[in-house]
Amino acid sequence: MGSKSHFTSKLVVFASILVLLLFHSSEAQSWKDSLERWIPKEMERSFQGIFYNIDPPGGIPGSVTAADSHYQPDYYYNWIRDAAITMDVVVTLYEKAKEPSQVKKLEDILKSYVHYNYIIQRTPNPTGNLTTGGLGAAHYLLNGSAFTGSWCSVENDGPALRAVAVMRFAKEYLRRHGDLSYVKKWIFNNETNPPTTVTRADLDYIVRVWPDPCCGPWETFFVVHFWDQLLIRKALLQGAKFAEMLGYMNASSYYTKQAKELTSNMSKFISHVHGVVLESIDAPRDTIHETFIDTSTILAVLYGYNDDGFYAPDDPYVMNTANLLRLIYKDLFPVNRRRSQDEGVLFGRFPNDNYDGIATGNGVKGNPWFLCTLGMARYYFELAKRFSEYTTLTIHSKWMLPLLDHLGSSHSHSMPPVVGEALNHFQVGETLQKAQLCQIAKALLTEADKIVYAVYRHVPETGMLTEEINRFTGFEQGAKNLTWSYDSFVTAIWSRKHSLKAFHSNCPL
Ligand SMILES: *[C@@H]1O[C@H](CO)[C@@H](O)[C@H](O)[C@H]1NC(C)=O
Ligand SMILES: *[C@@H]1O[C@H](CO)[C@@H](O)[C@H](O)[C@H]1NC(C)=O
Ligand SMILES: *[C@@H]1O[C@H](CO)[C@@H](O)[C@H](O)[C@H]1NC(C)=O
Ligand SMILES: *[C@@H]1O[C@H](CO)[C@@H](O)[C@H](O)[C@H]1NC(C)=O
Ligand SMILES: *[C@@H]1O[C@H](CO)[C@@H](O)[C@H](O)[C@H]1NC(C)=O
Ligand SMILES: *[C@@H]1O[C@H](CO)[C@@H](O)[C@H](O)[C@H]1NC(C)=O
Repeated sequence: MGSKSHFTSKLVVFASILVLLLFHSSEAQSWKDSLERWIPKEMERSFQGIFYNIDPPGGIPGSVTAADSHYQPDYYYNWIRDAAITMDVVVTLYEKAKEPSQVKKLEDILKSYVHYNYIIQRTPNPTGNLTTGGLGAAHYLLNGSAFTGSWCSVENDGPALRAVAVMRFAKEYLRRHGDLSYVKKWIFNNETNPPTTVTRADLDYIVRVWPDPCCGPWETFFVVHFWDQLLIRKALLQGAKFAEMLGYMNASSYYTKQAKELTSNMSKFISHVHGVVLESIDAPRDTIHETFIDTSTILAVLYGYNDDGFYAPDDPYVMNTANLLRLIYKDLFPVNRRRSQDEGVLFGRFPNDNYDGIATGNGVKGNPWFLCTLGMARYYFELAKRFSEYTTLTIHSKWMLPLLDHLGSSHSHSMPPVVGEALNHFQVGETLQKAQLCQIAKALLTEADKIVYAVYRHVPETGMLTEEINRFTGFEQGAKNLTWSYDSFVTAIWSRKHSLKAFHSNCPL
């Protein structure tokens, strides 16, 4: 009797493990399958959304509307920042294009973009004119007229992002045997007083104003932001190389010199106490827990990392900031508290955000944003790529541990313990070997895919992306067809592709 019941209970345990495993793996298949089926469809939809918003009705060629939303909110303007982020996507397509008609089409769009920006740089606005700070204007009308209402100004990320996108275009254009005289007429030459070219104007502007406070990516606090500093740094360093390539040595060395000073001044953004990158050190925010923790620091790394080891994706402080953002948002948004185990966290801009996509002010609660959430997914894809490529890596800071331990624990939950050794309990000074690095890379790829899957769960059948996702209901909210949301989807999926490729070539099964 005793042994029979023992046998039965063993059988029950065995059967339930089997059911669990089967159920678990089929469920694992189903979320992955849904994701793989959705990604190509949403990519197509995103490109449609991006090109729909370039040269929109009422706009002159080369203008980009921030969203197809004219009312509540009215985003029917060319934001310098958002347009540059969009054109950076177009430049990537241009670099990849093979078919002559496609090359020509993209080249025409990019030349129009340069021309539209030549016009608006020379359009005086409430912030100033070409030589007195007018380049800091946040946005212009799509027909090229200045925006004369009140708005948070100055914004210095726009000229930095625009300079980087235009220089990338110019380099690819010259590589394809484009005309050097076009580049010197419209993009960069030695005329400075006033500048007669678009990128010379941008670089000479940011090289002068980089120490000053401005509105930041969210147009909320007028302070010195980590976001602007890292973007300006990249633009100046790229600008120095570009000017040198064209033979303008004076400009080149001047940009380098200023970039060096900016770089040495950026250590102030590190909090050694909390192990995080601060969004700013200048403005008061409400609670200690939420002070200066902002998703834009991770976005800054995505858009502003110059591939030189300075604030790389695997910088310990950057890694810990990403992990802390997850811990904050997983509890902050009700929609995250209800999510299934296959869904990652949806991310907002900063914890005490009080803009909901239409209204702003006391009592208004901020929401998850597509561009923040997809940016975080892209961050994990980038990190996975780096971990796949290392042959060994020494844990050189305790601020790497919280994210690594999280990956270790979620990794061991998603796998039966017999299959792999649990990955947690890393130590400072420990050197990770290839097999461990590949396990971490795999966990990062899963972490990233779960975030993309969470996005999928909140996008309607049409594939239309807005600015935000309601923090309670999980439905889309705010500006419809937000261009930057589509840009973020495309760039996240491009990173996914590169990351999977690196993983498969470095981490054989
Ligand atoms: C959004 O973009 C699509 C095309 O990409 C368009 O058909 C639609 O009208 C746009 N506007 C809204 C509000 O959906
Ligand atoms: C910009 O404004 C200043 C001061 O109002 C003026 O002296 C200058 O000529 C203007 N520059 C351009 C390029 O319009
Ligand atoms: C652009 O549009 C605005 C508002 O519709 C109008 O006032 C302005 O004159 C237009 N500018 C140009 C250059 O057509
Ligand atoms: C560098 O940062 C320090 C500390 O915030 C500030 O006092 C100083 O003015 C900055 N340097 C420049 C050139 O802005
Ligand atoms: C660019 O202008 C500077 C003076 O502003 C001059 O020293 C330099 O030689 C010029 N470079 C070229 C290539 O014309
Ligand atoms: C060198 O270039 C910088 C940036 O364009 C400019 O401000 C400076 O006047 C130039 N110096 C000389 C000697 O031309």
